Amino acid sequence: MTVLVTGGAGYIGAHTVRALRSSGRKVVVLDTLERGNREAVIDAELIVGDVADQGLVAKICGDKGVSSVIHFAAYKAVGESMLEPEKYWNNNVASTEKMLDVLTEQRVDKFVFSSSAAVYGTPLSMPVTESDPTKPESVYAETKLAVEKLLGAFSQNTDCRLRSVSLRYFNAAGASKDNRIGEDWSSSQNLVPQVMRALLDKDFKLEIFGNDYPTPDGTGVRDYIHVEDLAVAHVKALDYLESGGETLVCNIGTGSGTSVMQVIDLAEKISRKKVPYRIAARRAGDPISVFADARLAEKKLGWKAARGLPEIIESAYEWHRTHPNGYRRGN
Ligand code: WQD
Repeated sequence: MTVLVTGGAGYIGAHTVRALRSSGRKVVVLDTLERGNREAVIDAELIVGDVADQGLVAKICGDKGVSSVIHFAAYKAVGESMLEPEKYWNNNVASTEKMLDVLTEQRVDKFVFSSSAAVYGTPLSMPVTESDPTKPESVYAETKLAVEKLLGAFSQNTDCRLRSVSLRYFNAAGASKDNRIGEDWSSSQNLVPQVMRALLDKDFKLEIFGNDYPTPDGTGVRDYIHVEDLAVAHVKALDYLESGGETLVCNIGTGSGTSVMQVIDLAEKISRKKVPYRIAARRAGDPISVFADARLAEKKLGWKAARGLPEIIESAYEWHRTHPNGYRRGN
């Protein structure tokens, strides 16, 4: 009864591996280490390889007694996806389909998928519910929606009904409470790591992408969810499938929106330092406000966010303060 975690050397994957181990499950990680970090894999076996390698995936399933998969392995940079669409379609979708073919042959029938709130594009109303229209605005988001649809097809497969839970993440942030794993700001353009960089790198100034939005303080609003809450959601999704749950797609967010300025204000309070920033132009593709209706995950998975923005900022600050080079040497 081993869980195969693909991309388990990545930010959310590594936190999920630890949550799975805390739940008493055996875990094996498959990661190319192209963007992941060996050091982030704690208390689990790491096999370096690609999910598209069907022989390797079949061997792992057989040798390790894999009974379920949590699939993180994918490229996730929205901007890069617009510049290199083929790379994203190949890695995020074609490779996933190759793996799914092997899993059905190996009779592995429980699958948790790392999807994204980006599949909604710019939602028309808040909070976002799972029945809202999906209108991806990036190739990255299109590939996430494509895999959700692929999983829908595999769940109809009479031969080996692969049941799945697709988790549509809102904005993941923060680091592990014990400060052993976190995010690498050199590979993430997201707000929280960039705010941390502005606090800790004297040569760096944060750019606020627009402060003229129709929001209370004029800056963009998002639903920031602690990465450890996100990790627990994957364990709950696996519990749900192991107890016979049917294929499901659900939002994973806190249900409340926070503005860029609110993140900055809290970061200044916690760090007792000023965040140097300048107001820049709006970023193309940025929705004004996006936050989740998280009730379906609570109803179906028994999952609800347990941490708020203070824990996100405190853990992120402690991680980046003590790991200015991420996992690289010299911290
Ligand atoms: C948050 C807010 C920006 C950086 C993206 C992906 C989404 C998901 C999460 C994978 C916005 C503002 C940001 C900066 C800023 N990734 N901002 N200056 O765009 O909501 O979502 O990451 O699943 O798919 O689209 O996250 O952190 O980039 O932006 O002002 O340097 O912070 O305008 O309002 P986003 P973000």
